[in-house]
Amino acid sequence: MSSLLQTLASLAAAGSLLVSGALDMAAPQNSDTSMLLLVNRDWGISGDYAPVVRVSEVPGQVRKLREEAATAQEAMFAAAKAEARVTLVAVSGYRDYDKQERIYGNKLKSVRGDEEAADAYVARPGTSEHQTGLTMDIGQRSGKDTLEEGFGGTRGGQWCRDNAWRFGFILRYDEGWEEVTGYSFEPWHFRYVGLEHARRIHENEMPLEEYLKLLRTGILLDLVSADE
Ligand code: DAL
Ligand code: ZN
Repeated sequence: MSSLLQTLASLAAAGSLLVSGALDMAAPQNSDTSMLLLVNRDWGISGDYAPVVRVSEVPGQVRKLREEAATAQEAMFAAAKAEARVTLVAVSGYRDYDKQERIYGNKLKSVRGDEEAADAYVARPGTSEHQTGLTMDIGQRSGKDTLEEGFGGTRGGQWCRDNAWRFGFILRYDEGWEEVTGYSFEPWHFRYVGLEHARRIHENEMPLEEYLKLLRTGILLDLVSADE
């Protein structure tokens, strides 16, 4: 076994956190074509990053998403109607850097300059995964609890939580994950990662950050055993 692999294998034995710490340097998922693109407080996105997006054919206001996510959103909203008789609406999908800057600025004003309060719910420009075109905020036609925690307890919110994975989306900021994701509970914010990853993330009930650590450990262990 090469010494690099030996080192990595012993890191793997010591636990995924350490491995992830070592491998975070590489962040292999962060190619802009990857559905696993990680954008958070630690992993920003450049101001001029602008994916190709299209208007999703669903009810709502800000409906632009990348092709894969838009198609999945259309199927998901149709299923919500058929299965739960709920009309979901797109509240906010793709946002460019400037839009995020305005949203953050408005939030900051609304909390009278309290940065901690603003940061709990709104990403600073250049750190929002809305800029990837893979993320959408969902509400329902009744308008009940739009972008509020109460959305999670509504029929539409509950259906999304239970079923989004079937369409390749994950609930990105669940309750209790604040330390890992950096954001308060947002039952309306869903992120497209593709069907297979969404299924696994849903089954394991873990934030994207933790899943990526496990994935990298898995890739690592496959590499090590292939070398033996
Ligand atoms: N509300 C999420 C964190 C964002 O602004 O991207
Ligand atoms: Zn959002």
